[in-house]
Amino acid sequence: MKNKATGKSYAKIIWFGEHNVVYGKPAIAIPIYSVDVTATIEKIQNGQEIHCRYFDGPINEMADNLLGVKTLTNHLISLFGAQNIAFDLNIQSKLPAERGMGSSAATAIAIVRAFFDFFEVNLTRSQLLKLANIEEKITHGNPSGLDSATASSNMPIWFVKNEINEQIDFNLPTSSLVIADSGIEGKTSEAVSLVHDNVVDEPETAQPLINELGKIAESAREALATTDDELLGKLMNQSQHDLAELGVSNHTLDTFCQIACDNHALGAKLTGSGLGGCVIALAKNQTDAQQISTALRKAGATQTWIQSFKNYQFSTGEAHDNLVR
Ligand code: MEV
Repeated sequence: MKNKATGKSYAKIIWFGEHNVVYGKPAIAIPIYSVDVTATIEKIQNGQEIHCRYFDGPINEMADNLLGVKTLTNHLISLFGAQNIAFDLNIQSKLPAERGMGSSAATAIAIVRAFFDFFEVNLTRSQLLKLANIEEKITHGNPSGLDSATASSNMPIWFVKNEINEQIDFNLPTSSLVIADSGIEGKTSEAVSLVHDNVVDEPETAQPLINELGKIAESAREALATTDDELLGKLMNQSQHDLAELGVSNHTLDTFCQIACDNHALGAKLTGSGLGGCVIALAKNQTDAQQISTALRKAGATQTWIQSFKNYQFSTGEAHDNLVR
């Protein structure tokens, strides 16, 4: 056992496929390296404490809004027979919570990695995702696993629930993605339940939308391979339209998408669960990206990021950091 150990993970952005992924249709998501979570475990004299932005104290005194993290941590303590080992678990997160950037999954991934590092035990990717799912199930009800899969990945991923979790390589030499935080909480479980109710109550309207969103993700994968950013933009607009029809957009997200398109975005859509959270817009070049970012901030975005794809090829295994804040 080490005296001090760490685990790291990343924010994720779903480019295509939120919600339809819950129903077995494909999604494309990318990790954002500059927006990360680090969990650190350190041996201390007495007790087992957790320190994060929402709580500071003994693990067993964590409130119900942190039940997922509490349950996962207690599960890991039992797994390693660590009931009598005194430690502090510190969580440093750069992710805004409830903004569709996978904050809870990223936290869970970082915690699992820190425990395995602390006890010097090798961790497989499937073990990691299974353990992170303990937290995600409690926090989000019926997660597809996409958030954890992306938060733990070094590369963009192509994901089909319970079937495919494939890391994909792509290269978009000139375009960038602008990410804008609406400042409104995203409420994943509420949005997932809302879509579920629509699928059950109005299958003739909702199911075709889910099917089409899955087809859009397939077309987007081809567009990524052929560097067709114009088509990617159109597919983003089509996704936004379908997600709005499913009921997970809102006035602010719709307005942000419109403003991005009025400022030369090739396309724009919400990302993550919706009902709040972030919007993403595809820009043909850096100049357009800056213009979109400025326009969205003027319209009330609380934070914006620009993700360039110039060197967004991870096949070398290196983590490129192209994020401009
Ligand atoms: C949430 O980030 C993404 C959703 O598709 C839910 C899920 O995949 O579990 C809305």
